[in-house]
Amino acid sequence: MIDLKDQIDLKKLPRHVAVIMDGNGRWAAIHGKERVFGHQNGVTSVRETAEAAAELGIEFLTLYAFSTENWNRPPDEVEALMSLLVNTIHSEMDTLYKNNIRLNAIGDLDSLKPGTKAELLNAIEQTKDHERMVMTLALSYSSRWEITNAMRKIAEKVQNGNLKAEEITDQTIANQLATATMPDPELLIRTSGEFRLSNYLLWQIAYSELYFTSTLWPDFRRKDFYKALIDFQKRERRFGKTSDQIKAGLARP
Ligand code: FPP
Repeated sequence: MIDLKDQIDLKKLPRHVAVIMDGNGRWAAIHGKERVFGHQNGVTSVRETAEAAAELGIEFLTLYAFSTENWNRPPDEVEALMSLLVNTIHSEMDTLYKNNIRLNAIGDLDSLKPGTKAELLNAIEQTKDHERMVMTLALSYSSRWEITNAMRKIAEKVQNGNLKAEEITDQTIANQLATATMPDPELLIRTSGEFRLSNYLLWQIAYSELYFTSTLWPDFRRKDFYKALIDFQKRERRFGKTSDQIKAGLARP
């Protein structure tokens, strides 16, 4: 049987893959453990996915680690997730160095505890020269938060006379998003069999291919990531055009 990795066409890789890591709580329940056990085991999946993506040559990997809505979880789970974040940043620094991965974060980082934010910013600073892949953690992130912020910044420019309303294009808006320096994700993966977008990168995924798998995040391994890429590469991305136009080479919008 051909290795899954060998089935991937390296010339047709997405530049940016976004992931909704879901199913940690259910995985823990299946194993008769507390929810935090699922989150802890999700770290192995983060490492495997990041290494697999970097080795293949994917430039951007964006992981939904904590949503704005996740603040409403029981306080001990929120606390455990934040500690896990700080501990993981420490324990995985080697992985980031070994794989030349730059750490990045998007979201309302001011809502993190000052110590957590400082650890995160420190890791981002330490890896800022790594060039192989940018791994972005979406933390205290939601699309509506991000788009609202972007609108405020644009409104200020208009109010100050630095921008005319009629000059606003979709690029004006994209430039004010937390992802301004990244291409839009071509592929969005969600684990655990849920078919939702959960307020994640809603502007950016306008043309993304969506891949859903029933695998729970703590079980997600390299082979699962490869399967998602193989599936992605079988699809015809049309950007609103016809199949004939795409075949004639009129690819992007
Ligand atoms: C969703 O599963 C997962 C999260 C809210 C947290 C994701 C965090 C990790 C994978 C931990 C490690 C990550 C980093 C970057 C340190 P869920 O709890 O909603 O699962 P459920 O739907 O089964 O309850």
